[in-house]
Amino acid sequence: MWMIALFLACGAPAAPSDDDPVAVDDTSPAVVDAPTWHQDVRPIIETRCVSCHQTGGIGLFPLTEYDAVHAVRDAIADAVGSGRMPPWGAAPGCNTYAGDLSMPADEIETILAWAEADGPEGDPTASVPGTPANTQTALSRVDLTLSLPEVYTPQVEPDDYRCFAIPWPYTERVYVTGFRVNPGDPRVVHHVIAYVAGAQYAETIAQVEAEDELPGFACYGGPVVVPQEDAEWLGAWAPGDETGDFPEGLGIRMNPGEYVILQVHYNTEVAGALPDQTTMDLSIAESVERSAWLQPYTNPVWLYGVGMDIPAGESGVTHSFSYPFPGDYLFWAVFGHMHTLGRSLKLTIGDGADANCLLNIPAWDFDWQRTYRLAEPQLIREDEELHLDCVWDNPTDQDVAWGDGTGDEMCLGVLLMTDP
Ligand code: HEC
Repeated sequence: MWMIALFLACGAPAAPSDDDPVAVDDTSPAVVDAPTWHQDVRPIIETRCVSCHQTGGIGLFPLTEYDAVHAVRDAIADAVGSGRMPPWGAAPGCNTYAGDLSMPADEIETILAWAEADGPEGDPTASVPGTPANTQTALSRVDLTLSLPEVYTPQVEPDDYRCFAIPWPYTERVYVTGFRVNPGDPRVVHHVIAYVAGAQYAETIAQVEAEDELPGFACYGGPVVVPQEDAEWLGAWAPGDETGDFPEGLGIRMNPGEYVILQVHYNTEVAGALPDQTTMDLSIAESVERSAWLQPYTNPVWLYGVGMDIPAGESGVTHSFSYPFPGDYLFWAVFGHMHTLGRSLKLTIGDGADANCLLNIPAWDFDWQRTYRLAEPQLIREDEELHLDCVWDNPTDQDVAWGDGTGDEMCLGVLLMTDP
């Protein structure tokens, strides 16, 4: 909202109104200067928004026609001005990422000015189309499809975290070289994380599955059956995420007898509790150039309730962790994880002036967790430290610490790594 306020303070043209003859005069500079749909706004919306906001898309309402966009112009200005849309938490100036969705400041200003001027249509005969981003996730081959064992209808409103343990079908060691998540009903599937659990967790899985009659088991915050720090990750997906093939030559090893645990976060706020059967397509190789792994990274003592206190009523509570790496490694992708009290999260190699920033999320949003794939792999050398910084605001009257529950918090990085 502050950007809108700023704009008003700088003297935006007044919105034309029926009883104001000056404002409807087409030659008045105010009206001529305001951006129009056909000339200025259409190309931005078509490029930045319609890949999700189209009929049948995950964006829930289409932004494809002037009338539809005009009708929600204030909501658009608010979502864009506050940075909620397009959903992309990584701040500029830190690193460069594949499939960056972020919006340049001049485009944000154009949208705000247009909404402020009541959304003029402009000249349809000189309309400028945009170039929608290709969000078709490019998975070059599908060798295996994992599916929820049966249809599941979310039970907890508005947020239901459900895990489904799927036995890994291969009897030899293989490598996953890419994946694509197909949300069964995009209106309710908010994010999906695929964890790997070893064969030794079979009994625990059977126990939690028996806790209710429904498919899968409840699992807020992590895979539950495997402690977060032991959980291996296969991948994470949020709407609009760039999944598909892993970087060339990379694969994540899977062993016979393991389980893939699909954690699906259902949000029923907008469309209600709709049935879903999400699937995940995978490409598989018998061997790869580089064996990759997803490395969870956090302070081990926090997991035991030490040192990550977030006292009741305090804001700006900061906890940091750094650790010298035991060798040279390459980072290919980064993922950050906190719960709902999180304000910001940062991961850097080294600190101070010559730090190499991997990920900076200044306005943490629990609803939009995604993997940020680095445009170029980043090298960490032996003895260099990886710094993780998390900041929380705790407006509740409860002291908060590390934990799996809704009221608990986490501060976790996950890195897709290989040897150099
Ligand atoms: C990656 C997919 C994606 C893109 C790109 C995207 N949206 Fe959205 N948008 C969504 C989803 C999903 C929702 C549903 C609300 C939610 O889950 O946060 C949403 C909700 C909204 C809302 C209503 C909720 C709110 O936060 O105000 C507005 C307005 C909106 N989008 C505008 C836009 C505009 C304008 C753009 C382009 C500048 C855009 N969106 C780009 C996926 C997207």
